[in-house]
Amino acid sequence: MKKVMLTGDRPTGRLHLGHYVGSLKRRVELQNSNSFDEMYIMIADSQAITDNAYNLEKVRQNIIEVALDYLACGLDPNKVTLFIQSQIPELAELTFYYMNLVTLARLERNPTVKNEIKLRDFETSIPVGFLTYPISQAADITAFKASIVPVGDDQLPMLEQAREIVRSFNHTYEEVLVEPEALLPDNAICSRLPGLDGKAKMSKSLGNCIYLADTEEEIEKKVMAMFTDPNHLRVEDPGCVEDNPVFTYLDAFCREEHFGKYLSEYKNLDELKEHYKRGGLGDVKIKRFLNQVLQEELRPIRKKREELSQNIKEVYKILGEGSKKARKVAMETMQEVKRAMKINYFEDLSFLEEQTKKYEDK
Ligand code: TRP
Repeated sequence: MKKVMLTGDRPTGRLHLGHYVGSLKRRVELQNSNSFDEMYIMIADSQAITDNAYNLEKVRQNIIEVALDYLACGLDPNKVTLFIQSQIPELAELTFYYMNLVTLARLERNPTVKNEIKLRDFETSIPVGFLTYPISQAADITAFKASIVPVGDDQLPMLEQAREIVRSFNHTYEEVLVEPEALLPDNAICSRLPGLDGKAKMSKSLGNCIYLADTEEEIEKKVMAMFTDPNHLRVEDPGCVEDNPVFTYLDAFCREEHFGKYLSEYKNLDELKEHYKRGGLGDVKIKRFLNQVLQEELRPIRKKREELSQNIKEVYKILGEGSKKARKVAMETMQEVKRAMKINYFEDLSFLEEQTKKYEDK
């Protein structure tokens, strides 16, 4: 069986450092490992619409932004098919049939959706499309027969829902669909980078992000204003490295070579942490170091993003060609699905024969 990977993002904003450590970096590694026969990365605009129906412009404005972020990080359109969800009508068609294999109670139990409903104050007015987006996500995955879906752990309920739909479909009709598996980030920092303010998650709505498109000055300003240990008031005070996002970011980004380059009094991060814990190491010094480390990581991404942004036509072409290619694959699966459900009346000549016979025999 072919090894297929698919994943995606809702285009509701530019991508940030949390996306980068949590997923983008991994995708590029997977791409470069050449371990998949096919790789798909989707800009999930239809899904973004499920809670932005009255604010479509936001979604529209972020299609190219997300594509720029993808390409800037090193995703290569020759190896990965980049496409826009809404341009593949088969995904909506599949969703419509899958809906009959899922109960309302099952949708209402989805913990991620439940949480999102709370966050959006939807409690008394949940759009039907929003409640059912896990079904549409199952369509996204199965249309391409993806077996591996790299996602954060918040997406596990979506994968479980997709697997249930696959089992139900294959059992009820015919073995057509492939059961997907999640590929989770391989360490805790990568699965959830805290915000600049020390809150559990870097998130656009909390305004605590470093964006991949941020300028050097913006990054520096944000890093120097980061939350640290609130009890570390004077340089001499002992400091805490746990729940201190400056150290969490260093855990995620700094390598031993950075010390030689930028902070040669220390050999490695353990030594730096020890000093901070003992007292006598100021926040400004570690923030300056973190800034240098981040600048080094983000500089080439920003540069590539700037270059690409001078050629939006090319980005547009990449998405157009990717969507065309993705559509072809989804159409093939759709045909198999219709065949399995026996709703391919005009392709199925035995249907005509059988219906004719039904009357001949009378
Ligand atoms: N739900 C995902 C998110 O919010 C986006 C998404 C849509 C997705 N369809 C998908 C992810 C299919 C993986 C596979 O980030």
